[in-house]
Amino acid sequence: MKKGVFITLEGLDGAGKTTQIKRLAAKAQALGIETVTTREPGGTALGDAIRKILLDPAYKEMLPLTEALLYAASRAQHVEEVIRPALRAGKLVICDRFLDSSLAYQAFGGGLAAEYVRYINEEAVKSCKPDRTFVLDLDPQEGQARKGQMKADRMEQKSLDFHKRVREGFLQIAQKEPERMVVLDAMESPEAIFNAIWTNVAPLLSILR
Ligand code: TYD
Repeated sequence: MKKGVFITLEGLDGAGKTTQIKRLAAKAQALGIETVTTREPGGTALGDAIRKILLDPAYKEMLPLTEALLYAASRAQHVEEVIRPALRAGKLVICDRFLDSSLAYQAFGGGLAAEYVRYINEEAVKSCKPDRTFVLDLDPQEGQARKGQMKADRMEQKSLDFHKRVREGFLQIAQKEPERMVVLDAMESPEAIFNAIWTNVAPLLSILR
């Protein structure tokens, strides 16, 4: 039985998820809440190996379907090895990306049917659903500019149009689940974004203190 709290952050690369996750974890830990931070794809030894394949620019030929199955494979291992045990132990789990990324990138961006992406993830996720998801909304061109000279991985090398569809995807998914998903403007200052996240999350964390 789940006793912990599961929070995910979503958004385009460069939206500032990592900064917010670090701050949220630090604040929760300072309050004595046992906190696990993790990410997808990856989060386990096997998941990190799958991540290398997914992000390697050498695999230009990778089909959207192959991509979706590999993300789901990484997620299956991650949920079973890391997320579910931590939630069972009553911890706070903060995850950098989860199922919504597969819907936004592989369905909205890559063109797979959203129902199919949900279907292949069903067994991986089982009943493991985030309690709250924050979408850091950003213009893809701004995201690219923020990444600057850093070498683009296979996903980041996809077209501007692809990333525009991904952004739109996150917004549409959020619109359908307003009780779980909160959209925040990634152009706001990191302080303002963190305050918004904390105000929203604090009541959820009261059961862990
Ligand atoms: P991320 O770790 O956020 O990249 P970085 O370390 O460069 O900030 O995510 C890797 C990429 O994988 C990112 O471009 C989004 C993509 N992705 C999907 O396409 N589908 C998914 O289900 C997940 C979890 C990530």
